[in-house]
Amino acid sequence: MTTLLPAWTDDEGARRARDLLTRTFGPGEARVWSAPGRVNLIGEHTDYNAGLCLPVALPHRTVVAVRPRRDRTVRLVSAQEDGTRIVDLDDVRPGAVAGWPAYVVGVAWALVAEGLVPRERATGFDVAVDSCVPYGAGLSSSAALECAAAIALDELWGLGLAGDDAGRTRLAAVCVRAENEIAGAPTGGMDQSASLRSRRGHALLLDCRDGATRHVPFDLAAAGLELLVIDTRAPHALVDGQYAARRESCETAARELGVASLREVTDLPAALDALDDPLVRRRVRHVVTEIDRVERFVDLLDGGPPAGPRLGALGTLMAASHASLRDDYEVSAPELDLAVDTAVAAGAHGARMTGGGFGGSAIALLDAGHAGRVAAAVTDSFTAAGFAEPVFLLAPAGGPAARLG
Ligand code: GLA
Repeated sequence: MTTLLPAWTDDEGARRARDLLTRTFGPGEARVWSAPGRVNLIGEHTDYNAGLCLPVALPHRTVVAVRPRRDRTVRLVSAQEDGTRIVDLDDVRPGAVAGWPAYVVGVAWALVAEGLVPRERATGFDVAVDSCVPYGAGLSSSAALECAAAIALDELWGLGLAGDDAGRTRLAAVCVRAENEIAGAPTGGMDQSASLRSRRGHALLLDCRDGATRHVPFDLAAAGLELLVIDTRAPHALVDGQYAARRESCETAARELGVASLREVTDLPAALDALDDPLVRRRVRHVVTEIDRVERFVDLLDGGPPAGPRLGALGTLMAASHASLRDDYEVSAPELDLAVDTAVAAGAHGARMTGGGFGGSAIALLDAGHAGRVAAAVTDSFTAAGFAEPVFLLAPAGGPAARLG
């Protein structure tokens, strides 16, 4: 029987992280924060083109238990990784920190680099990390870790930024800087905004041109629906060259077209005519049509709970998004295509890959109660194709990064 990966309750997450901290670094006071992973409903590879995207926070979260120190040392342990790590905050710089600790100490570094905390107030800490966000699944486990670290340090260092959306917007920018410069992944800003700025029961319409957001009601249970996430377990890495290459093509195209970003393209046929390279033309077509699909998706959601023809139209947009990512942007994978096709054949109203692609996860919009059946169909198709066994979770829209205790 197919099982769904459960999300932890806040109490369970807090207990796990606290226990790990105590087991590793000894007893003492600790405070706990958590931040969610995300799925994106539509609007893929648009964030670094100043476009629109529509993520929802997962109920699955990364938890950090933190204890302040007086020196400049950070000691880290993660339930998902072997051993403990020690980093001196004075040694953090681009290229200097290997592996997962970069997401934590990178945030500490970026808070100072952004001028949000004076260096003398940025003291060290002990931190224990635990997470039920699947790792390397395109569900933003790295952003969840950065954002949990960001709100923890915000409070530990008395910055007061997490209290309102303007402050959280600055924290999101800090996390992006940590990821780009210290972890070395040239990602856009969608994941960090989703993790820090979402609202429970809502999707986050994020305009990456100016960082503006709108909370779009997305109460699937009330509409008799559910969102199934299919983690294909196909290897997925953003630090490799493919993501960077896509980003570079878009930047080159914008330069050739004489616009600040592809968001500014208003006449797609004219823009395509003006570009020589057929590959770049396809990349641009994806980005521009995808931004338009986000607008149409949100219009449909604004029209009321998804039902009847509006639900069908949402599914059509999801299918068009997937096809565009597969054919024009070339970031899908055989596992993602099979997951999407099988989910739709098994009765999903719509399905598409979500996140950066090259492996990772797909989403499927289903009638409530159908997840087990669709998951079983996807598992069977994966077995028949000789793929690894997929993992499934449900994604009712969760809340943003928060203090747990
Ligand atoms: C990854 C990146 C995001 C975004 C998506 C694609 O998740 O981290 O910034 O570019 O890919 O939409």
